[in-house]
Amino acid sequence: MIKVTDLKKTYPGKVPVHALKGVSFEIPSGQFVAIMGPSGSGKSTLLHQLALLDDPTSGRILLDGLDVLTLTDRKRTEFRLRHLGYVFQEYALIPELNAIENAFLPLMLLGMKRKEFIRVSTELMGRVGLDNRLHHLINELSGGEQQRVAIARALVNKSKILFADEPCANLDTENKGIVLRLLRKLCNDLGQTIVMVTHEPEQREFADRVLWFRDGRLVKEEYIGKDVREDAIHNGYRTDVSSDPD
Ligand SMILES: Nc1ncnc2c1ncn2[C@@H]1O[C@H](COP(=O)(O)OP(=O)(O)O)[C@@H](O)[C@H]1O
Ligand SMILES: [Mg+2]
Repeated sequence: MIKVTDLKKTYPGKVPVHALKGVSFEIPSGQFVAIMGPSGSGKSTLLHQLALLDDPTSGRILLDGLDVLTLTDRKRTEFRLRHLGYVFQEYALIPELNAIENAFLPLMLLGMKRKEFIRVSTELMGRVGLDNRLHHLINELSGGEQQRVAIARALVNKSKILFADEPCANLDTENKGIVLRLLRKLCNDLGQTIVMVTHEPEQREFADRVLWFRDGRLVKEEYIGKDVREDAIHNGYRTDVSSDPD
């Protein structure tokens, strides 16, 4: 589903920053991958390139077999709206719109009928626990609520691929659990391919596989065992069960 070959990204400037130094990997369809690594290791840069939000310096990206860097700007935008979802680290919500309008915006841009996009977005807002915040403006919401609007917006088009940059960074324990279980369910039920950046080791246990980055390079791969994953899904970030310390 995703194939990256020798991807490099250098931010130009007086002191150019080599954020990605030649990264190659493949992610099969339906896999949930966690991207881990210290701050500044290139995780967000990688996600931006994969989601066609930026142009890499060199390298090749295939998404669903399509050589996406060769597409025209218009085709790229259309591909992104239709086939990709993206949760931004800094939300990127539109303050003039209320919560549900932010969530359904991608569907409106795709030309879906109003009745249908209201239905789809209302359902997703419920799944991220925001049923009672639909008509609040963005600045009337807490950081955690804004993050969940951003997650709902990234999910409305039921895209083949979902990118999420630290989607749980501003959430409390209970909401972390809700979001991680929701992502896992989307992967299991819809066969969605998910690439999630996180810096919390516990969160990677919800994934199938982990790619570890350091200093712009992919340095280690890890597969999460089924038992570990099942345990994370059932017990991770739960506030409603008391865990036995033994
Ligand atoms: N727009 C930019 N211009 C210049 N340098 C950048 C830009 N974005 C990120 N960087 C630099 O690239 C490196 C990787 O950043 P980033 O991908 O955000 O790391 P991470 O998400 O792993 O914390 C860092 O050294 C960062 O300062
Ligand atoms: Mg980052």
